[in-house]
Amino acid sequence: MFPKKRMRRLRRTEKIRAMLKETTISKNDLIYPIFVEEGIEGRRAIEAMPNQYRLALGEVRDEAREIVSLGILAVILFGIPQKKDAAGSQAYAKDGVIPRAIGEIKDEVGDDLVVITDVCMCEYTDHGHCGVVEGEKVLNDPTLKLLAREALSHASAGADIVAPSDMMDGRVGTIRETLDKEGFEDMIIMSYAAKYASSFYGPFRDAADSVPSFGDRRGYQMDPANANEAMQEVYLDIEEGADIVMVKPALSYLDLIYRVKQEFAMPTAAYNVSGEYAMVKAAAKKGYVDEERIVMEIMTSIKRAGADLILTYHAKDVARWLG
Ligand code: PBG
Repeated sequence: MFPKKRMRRLRRTEKIRAMLKETTISKNDLIYPIFVEEGIEGRRAIEAMPNQYRLALGEVRDEAREIVSLGILAVILFGIPQKKDAAGSQAYAKDGVIPRAIGEIKDEVGDDLVVITDVCMCEYTDHGHCGVVEGEKVLNDPTLKLLAREALSHASAGADIVAPSDMMDGRVGTIRETLDKEGFEDMIIMSYAAKYASSFYGPFRDAADSVPSFGDRRGYQMDPANANEAMQEVYLDIEEGADIVMVKPALSYLDLIYRVKQEFAMPTAAYNVSGEYAMVKAAAKKGYVDEERIVMEIMTSIKRAGADLILTYHAKDVARWLG
C-alpha cells in the first residue's frame, strides 16, 4: 500500500481531526452521584474524594440547582441514615433520607433533573452488608422483599429511575413486579447488572459508611476474573425487566462494556467509581498528570467501549470543560 495510503493525511489539521472524531462526550451522557446524610448540618468533605461531599438535606436544593445550571441531566442519590439496624429499616422508611431528598429536589427543580436512586441495603444495615444477614450468611430471598419495598418508597417519593446495586439474584424481577402491582409500570429500572467485588470501591465505603463489619462482598458481587459470568448476569437482568444495564467499575472492565453493548444492544451505563476518581485526583494534585486531559480521555474510553451513560464524580468538571 505505501505510499498510496497515508494515515496522517486525516490528522493534518484541527478541523479535519474534529470532523473525523469517532467518539464524542456530551453532557447528556453524564450522571452525577450525590451523598445525602441525615442529621448533619451543611456539608462534610469526603477525604479520599476531593470536591465530593456528604450533603445535609438542607443543602440538596442548592446542589440540584447547581447541577441543572451546569447542564447535567441526571443524578444518582445515595443515602446515609442517622440510625442503622440489622434489617436496614431506614432503607424503605417512607420518611427516610432518600424519599426526603427526592422531595427537596423535585420541589426545587421539578423535571429539570432526572432523579435516580441507588437501591441497596448496605448503607442502612448496621453490619454493612447488602442484604439480610443470618450468622455470617447474607440471605438472598428474604432480601428481595426489602429491596422491593425500598424501590417502592423511592418511586412513591417521585424518583424517575431506581437502580438496584445489591447483586442479589432475582431482585430486578421482584422489583419490577412490585412496582407494576403498585401502579408504577413506567418506573425505569437501571440495574447494576455486572457488578464486581472491586477494591476500587474503597473511598465510597468511607463516603457512605458502608464497610462490612465482617467478611466481604464476594458471596454476591462478581469475581474480577470472570467475564462470561457477567454476560449471564446481564442477560438475566434483561430477562427480568431491566431497562438500562450497568457495568461497574468502568476502567478495568472496558472489555465487559464492549461485550455487553455488542451482545445485547441495550442502553448501557458504566460506573466510573470512587477509587478510579481518587487515583486521578491524587495524581493530578501531585502534578503527575493533566487532570482535564486525563479525565476527558477516560470519559472517551468508556464511551468508545460502548457505554451510553457514565456515572462519574467528574461530571461537574466535565460539564464545565464542555462549556
Ligand atoms: C452499594 C454501592 C456501592 C457503590 C455503589 N453502590 C458500594 C459497594 O458495593 O461496596 C460503589 C460506588 C463507588 O465506589 O463509587 N452497594
